Amino acid sequence: MARVILGVGAGIAAYKACELLRLLKEAGHRVRVVPTHDALRFVGEPTWAALSGEPVTTDVWAGVDEVPHVRLGQTADLVLVAPATADLLARAAAGMASDLLTATLLTARCPVVYAPAMHTEMWEHPATRQNVSVLRARGAIVVEPAVGRLTGPDTGSGRLPEPAELLAVAQAVLSSRTSGGVCPPVTPGPDGGERDSDPDLAGRRVLVSAGGTREELDPVRFLGNWSTGTQGYAFASAAVARGADVTLVAANVELPDPAGPKVIKVVSARDMHAAMLAQARTADVIVMTAAVADFRPVKRSDSKIKKDGRVPEPIVLTANPDILADLSARRATQGPAGQVLIGFAAETHPDLEVARAKLARKGCDLLVVNPVGDGRGFGSVESEAVVLGADGSCTPIPRRSKGALADVVLTLAVALLELVSRHIDRPVPARLCQVS
Ligand code: CTP
Repeated sequence: MARVILGVGAGIAAYKACELLRLLKEAGHRVRVVPTHDALRFVGEPTWAALSGEPVTTDVWAGVDEVPHVRLGQTADLVLVAPATADLLARAAAGMASDLLTATLLTARCPVVYAPAMHTEMWEHPATRQNVSVLRARGAIVVEPAVGRLTGPDTGSGRLPEPAELLAVAQAVLSSRTSGGVCPPVTPGPDGGERDSDPDLAGRRVLVSAGGTREELDPVRFLGNWSTGTQGYAFASAAVARGADVTLVAANVELPDPAGPKVIKVVSARDMHAAMLAQARTADVIVMTAAVADFRPVKRSDSKIKKDGRVPEPIVLTANPDILADLSARRATQGPAGQVLIGFAAETHPDLEVARAKLARKGCDLLVVNPVGDGRGFGSVESEAVVLGADGSCTPIPRRSKGALADVVLTLAVALLELVSRHIDRPVPARLCQVS
């Protein structure tokens, strides 16, 4: 059970925070709601108190003997602010302590997650952009608002992500805090301790591909694969929880968009190739979890192919671009130097020697080799893998949730980023961690 502070700003999306509170409680957490004074105009104090089973105060003058403006922040495992209004982000960025919530934000030593919700104009205003940058630079996680219907008839970027998605971010942040100890970091932090609550991907850009591409035969048929995108989405959420600015290129995924990443939807391998290369230039880490079709039909019929009593024509295929190989070739010639490239090899019969050859062929730093088929892999909740490093290292990851697996792989990526930023030649490191 974690101690979560749910900060609520004065926005209409406060009503969604009631559902978020319920989900956090159902997940077993102890939740203390700290609304701003004006947030109570949207949802009243009795609602928060009844749903949380905890007292609710907005200012620093209640229960002064317990010094709540310091104690709440100091003892929390997570502070989650939803909705975070433009005003609240500005006060937090300025380091103000004008009410119990902002005082709690100043005293918190745990991860802090802001889920902004406001009108598109406010979200896009340079003042808000700057406040968000300041908070991110300080290590806070600011998830991207969802795009969709806003309070009035208008639509755009600024919606509060759905409560279930915010719960997923909260869970990922809390579990990365504890699973930091599962995979010991290659180097200790500056204080000599383990990676714990540090958002160790803060200020980094992570690009993830997910799902399975589709290659059209005609307007109603395609060649595709069974990939559901679960592992890629787990990577995106895990990277958001570690403070990264995440872009997710999703091919035909039916899962709800995760809270946090910018999502780009694609259909075919060529669409994904264009999107990934366009996004790659500024990425620090690229994770290619997508199942990309190696071939596409040479010919796409403009109308539905009919049987017409004929013997069917054979489908002639042509090769698609190899996205991962192209990303690695471009990194070699145009940079950015130090970018970490991670490939996936989903194999029905994993063979590490063959996988090593694939890693070399693709030119990536890490290759995550995992078994698929016969109920394993695609769509399942858990996964297991062996991560091969370009330096010859081999890290087995026993069966665990796809989110936990993503966290271990990201820990390896962070170790590579840290070594590069200390100006050590790549590929590195000789010793990657063993995962128990
Ligand atoms: N990949 C890619 N572009 C392709 C095919 C694969 O970027 N056209 C990426 C996948 O996203 C994955 C990695 O390359 O990260 C390995 O994919 P895999 O299908 O295992 O490799 P292939 O090159 O297709 O080799 P094969 O299917 O023959 O094993």
